[in-house]
Amino acid sequence: MSGRYTVILAAGQGTRMKSKLYKVLHRVCGRAMVDHVLTQVEQTNPEKIVTVVGHGAEAVEELLGARSDYAFQEAQLGTGHAVLQAEAKLGALAGMTLVVNGDTPLLTAQTFEKLYAYHQAKGAKATILTAHASDPTGYGRIIRNELGIVEKIVEQKDATKEEAAVTEINTGVYCFDNQTLFKALHQVTNHNAQGEYYLTDVIQILKDQGEIVAAYQTPDFNESLGVNDRVALAQATKLMQRRINEGHMRAGVTLIDPETAHIDADVQIGNDTIIEGQVNLKGQTVIGSDCYIGANSELNDSRLADHVHVTSSTLEQAQMAAGSDIGPNSHLRPQAIIGADVHIGNFCEVKNATIGARTKVGHLSYVGDATLGSDINVGCGVVFVNYDGVHKFHSEVGSHSFIGSNSNIVAPVKLADHSFVAAGSTITDDVPTRALAIARARQTNKNDYWQKLPLAQDPEWH
Ligand code: UD1
Ligand code: CA
Repeated sequence: MSGRYTVILAAGQGTRMKSKLYKVLHRVCGRAMVDHVLTQVEQTNPEKIVTVVGHGAEAVEELLGARSDYAFQEAQLGTGHAVLQAEAKLGALAGMTLVVNGDTPLLTAQTFEKLYAYHQAKGAKATILTAHASDPTGYGRIIRNELGIVEKIVEQKDATKEEAAVTEINTGVYCFDNQTLFKALHQVTNHNAQGEYYLTDVIQILKDQGEIVAAYQTPDFNESLGVNDRVALAQATKLMQRRINEGHMRAGVTLIDPETAHIDADVQIGNDTIIEGQVNLKGQTVIGSDCYIGANSELNDSRLADHVHVTSSTLEQAQMAAGSDIGPNSHLRPQAIIGADVHIGNFCEVKNATIGARTKVGHLSYVGDATLGSDINVGCGVVFVNYDGVHKFHSEVGSHSFIGSNSNIVAPVKLADHSFVAAGSTITDDVPTRALAIARARQTNKNDYWQKLPLAQDPEWH
């Protein structure tokens, strides 16, 4: 039995992207395009994957790591030249090689499997994955003879008028007999409009040698969308978004407005969770079951247990335990760890702080660099003063404490369990258990004060 191998082409700069970032590293729903391709390829279980890198080689290798082998293409002389760089790693092996461009993020493992199956059924040396495009602009055209047999692929820039009118396009995916591929690649020249060594020329070369060349047309053109510029990047993102959102809906997540729910590829969501419109769920975010994510929320790399309620809030690298809720208009910053059944209300910010079960931070508070126990009431407008202009300090509040409204907790300070802070206090010293700290000037009333006012002489004023 012969093996399966894959070559991913990812060495191009991506001139048409007009970007400092190498094309295949541009993200579609939070994941680099080349990572999307590799993720699908991995599901076909190849024995060896070689990614051809050039522009941004280090960045691509860092991203994909040990999931792939690499071949370095020093100068980008064309897709045929690119595949040839993998010869040292693959050339001697017997088997089938899938070649795929790194800028086609929507292709799926199922389609690759269909291509493999068709290739084997036809006994072909090369099989092209094609698609029908209503607008074939920019793609290589599949040229068939009168009998419908594939003759060659012609690039847009080399096409005659008749050839350019063909709407069957090359998706940039092929299945080859491995050794036949590398032999033919040595015969590819760069005598064409772009002066490049085209991988696509291998088709005609094999045909001329009397080899069987096949073409498998996939019904879904969208899957083969190649991203060469930002317009296509946006189209790919839209299509990927639909695919991701459909997956979540089929798995039992309610999306009120799937068109405006932006959910990254790696995000996980439990069933019976409801996601409103205008929601962004990014990075490695994980959401449990029976949660509610209200409109205008953004969650980045955050973890929510079950039954968590988020209303119009922003979470970054934060965690919320079961039954907790937040919002509207609050912000959890990195290392905000919110306990079970905690209530964070509106206009609150929490950063690098742990908040114990059932504690309430209802309104207009900043909790930074602090450890709060359970069952605490943090009054309206409480500020954890954590910064002296140079250093950050940490405060602790014990369970069952009560912090009156508009108090400042000046770190480093420790409030014991069952302690009380009078409203408006500025706490700079530790508070023992069951004590009430009052740290503000006592109120004095100046009686009959009004008589001192010139106004008091005015008989009209009383
Ligand atoms: C290519 C195909 C075209 C097909 C289209 C599908 C060729 C000659 N043309 O055109 O028939 O319809 O893909 O999307 O193959 N790359 C390298 N090294 C190079 C050149 C390119 O690694 O020297 C990589 C790029 O990074 C990219 C991929 O190969 O990931 C395709 O290159 P690109 O320039 O985008 O080819 P297209 O013009 O889209
Ligand atoms: Ca392309």
